[in-house]
Amino acid sequence: MIKSERSMEAIRMKERLEAIRERALAQINETDSLDKLNDIRVAFLGKKGELTEVLKGMKEVAPEDRPKVGQIVNETRQAIEEVLDKAKTELAAKKRELQLKSEVIDVTLPSKRDELGHKHPNTLALEEIQKIFIGMGYEVVDGPEVEYDYYNFEALNIPANHPAKDEQDTFYINDKIVLRTQTSPVQARVMEKGKLPIRMISPGRVYRADEVDATHSPCFHQVEGLVIDKGITFADLKGTLAEFAKELFGPDTKVKFRPHHFPFTEPSAEMDVSCFKCGGKGCRFCKGEGWIEILGCGMVHPHVFELCGIDKEEYTGFAFGVGLERVALLKYEIDDMRLLYENDIRFIKQF
Ligand code: DAH
Repeated sequence: MIKSERSMEAIRMKERLEAIRERALAQINETDSLDKLNDIRVAFLGKKGELTEVLKGMKEVAPEDRPKVGQIVNETRQAIEEVLDKAKTELAAKKRELQLKSEVIDVTLPSKRDELGHKHPNTLALEEIQKIFIGMGYEVVDGPEVEYDYYNFEALNIPANHPAKDEQDTFYINDKIVLRTQTSPVQARVMEKGKLPIRMISPGRVYRADEVDATHSPCFHQVEGLVIDKGITFADLKGTLAEFAKELFGPDTKVKFRPHHFPFTEPSAEMDVSCFKCGGKGCRFCKGEGWIEILGCGMVHPHVFELCGIDKEEYTGFAFGVGLERVALLKYEIDDMRLLYENDIRFIKQF
């Protein structure tokens, strides 16, 4: 190649570089995505890109022109890189802006909350009863629901032929084992252990072969109470249960004891509380009576002491049994016991 042609080659190179630069910048300007921008970078500046192709023609350029052409190649690369970087920054910013817009949080939308349950009226009533007795120094004791006939009946002075045993429509597992019909067997179990004095309550499920209706269920709950010490009298029973009624139903609550019969206590009574709705005048709530029956109680029968191995000459005591559902229905003014067992959260949440 003669010299003048070689000089021409430098000029052609320069023109080609300018053309590349213009095309690159035009393409970058039109680009609207980061991916396309990257394609452009590869097409112009990559290993097999246009600029590299141009460099391959350097050997055709006159040696004295090469530094000049080399400089133009560098300038072209720099110019394209600069514009590419700027476009990249701008597109990235735009993309982020769009993303932020599309991910806007509407703070006025109702939130998705975890469903928290609610305490059952029975649980609320039991917690209150427990609080009252724990406050008086009582222990809370558990007992088995599947119970020996012995503890459920015999140890409580209810012999095999006693009518109470028929009355209590018992679920028998076999002739020695029953589903307990009352929480009273826990009394016998605690007394038998012989640790005195005793001051305890025992809440739990009890079972009777009853049909379901507004006031009956084959499975319900009682809270048993037992106090045994030297010198315990009926006055202690009255004072304790009067205080219990006041704390449960309000400070103006009065109590009334009616003589009754339970095989395991002597004397025995049922306790009524003055109606906390009408204060005793008589209303729909207390069926015009002014009083509401609330529990059974009495002085522990000497024969029960004997059966459970406690010296009846040295010790006396009182016992009582409260129906938990009865308290819950009264306290929360629920008029059908079946509602307590349906577990409808809309119902339960009202208390
Ligand atoms: N267990 C009795 C019942 O189911 C309730 C009861 C009455 C318990 C008198 C007692 C009591 O401890 O002294 O009807």
